[in-house]
Amino acid sequence: MGTITLQNAQRLVTLISGATKGLHLYPVGHPAIMQPLQEIYAGCQGILATSPEIRMGVIDGILFVEEHLFVTPSPAMTELADRFLEKEISGLTICRGVSREDLGFLISLLAQKGVCGAEMARKLEERQITSIKLKVAEEEAGGALETYGQALDVIRDVIKDIEMGRIPSGGKVIGVVKKLVTLTMQDPTTLLGLSMIKDYDNYTFNHSVNVGVLAMSLTASLGFDQAGIEEAGIAGFLHDVGKTQVDRQILNKPGKLSAAEFDEMKKHPEFGAKIISEMDGVSPQIAQAVLGHHIRNNRLGYPEWARKLPFDTLSEIIAVADCYDAITTLRVYQNPLNPKAALDQMRTLAGSYLDSNMVQRFVEMMGKYPVGTLVRLDNNEIALVVRPNPANQEAPIIKVVINAAGEMVAEPPMLRLVNDAGNRYASIVTVVDPLLKNIDVGRYL
Ligand SMILES: [Fe+2]
Ligand SMILES: [Fe+2]
Repeated sequence: MGTITLQNAQRLVTLISGATKGLHLYPVGHPAIMQPLQEIYAGCQGILATSPEIRMGVIDGILFVEEHLFVTPSPAMTELADRFLEKEISGLTICRGVSREDLGFLISLLAQKGVCGAEMARKLEERQITSIKLKVAEEEAGGALETYGQALDVIRDVIKDIEMGRIPSGGKVIGVVKKLVTLTMQDPTTLLGLSMIKDYDNYTFNHSVNVGVLAMSLTASLGFDQAGIEEAGIAGFLHDVGKTQVDRQILNKPGKLSAAEFDEMKKHPEFGAKIISEMDGVSPQIAQAVLGHHIRNNRLGYPEWARKLPFDTLSEIIAVADCYDAITTLRVYQNPLNPKAALDQMRTLAGSYLDSNMVQRFVEMMGKYPVGTLVRLDNNEIALVVRPNPANQEAPIIKVVINAAGEMVAEPPMLRLVNDAGNRYASIVTVVDPLLKNIDVGRYL
């Protein structure tokens, strides 16, 4: 994340908006254009001296530059946001090495009527401008959610292969993880919302993908590199594949398992490790992490025979992600905990079931009001936390799902409880249980 100040961010978007508007009235070489262009260039250079890039764009109709969201925009900002929307551009990245000519070309593209984002991207490419990158809205809208869907399909295929007695291919799993890695590297919290997607009828698939997503976010926030985040994703996706070898009646049993049934269930980590070790392209470390995902931090878990084997951070990461997803999910034998209660519960497991340090990092990543938490605001609205705000734990990014009159809001926009100018929208009064309000949290994320 860059170190751009609010003032510089505001100034930059205002200048870009102004220059774009000016191009309707004057040709590119006109002083009325050259002057602001020079200022834009100087502004970018100033920011790029300390940050490798400048990201701006529109999220749910709100213009942003890096971490600054302009919830109460000036007319110039609104104009630029509208232009981005009209051209179906969701994001724009200006990288180090950008020239004044590159910026001039970008602004002329923004000013041209009828040139959409995809065409703009093509024209930038034709000119071999690599210092300006465009994200086209369609790609973005489907982006994370679409990849989540692909991940579900991949897990389904893997499980089907195993059930048919085939060795599943590692390639597809790795492919889908790579797509998610790119998103996670940009911002470790990007995928957290996805992990709130729960599907009672497809527990195994959703649980597998959610554990992968949570493990990737945690690994990214721990500062691991791309390869490390990828391993965490693959291990998370595959951690329970061994359950395919466990009798279905035991897996789906609503009540408490008998000792013999539990013994059978306890074999799933070793079954899983064996399957994974035969998959092409999947590293032995991943098989080892899967073998150890129920071994527990105090080594009193299962499989008993593996308690003395060496297990590294990856199995601790999977254990934490697994625990969080399991306890926040509705099952035949269990009501789900809300995210905040789940973190409290995990704290009580730190040092015995789970690694204390890893729990600590996970709790920090999730923030005071974790993604998926339903909160009551002091203006009587009920809102859903959709993104943490590391700069201010009390003011996460939210969506109002029930207005003050008690009506459900169909398509709520993202809002900041406190915007960059310090203006307060509302404050959180308390956490509300989604079950009490009957809200399907996953629908809004
Ligand atoms: Fe498991
Ligand atoms: Fe699991």
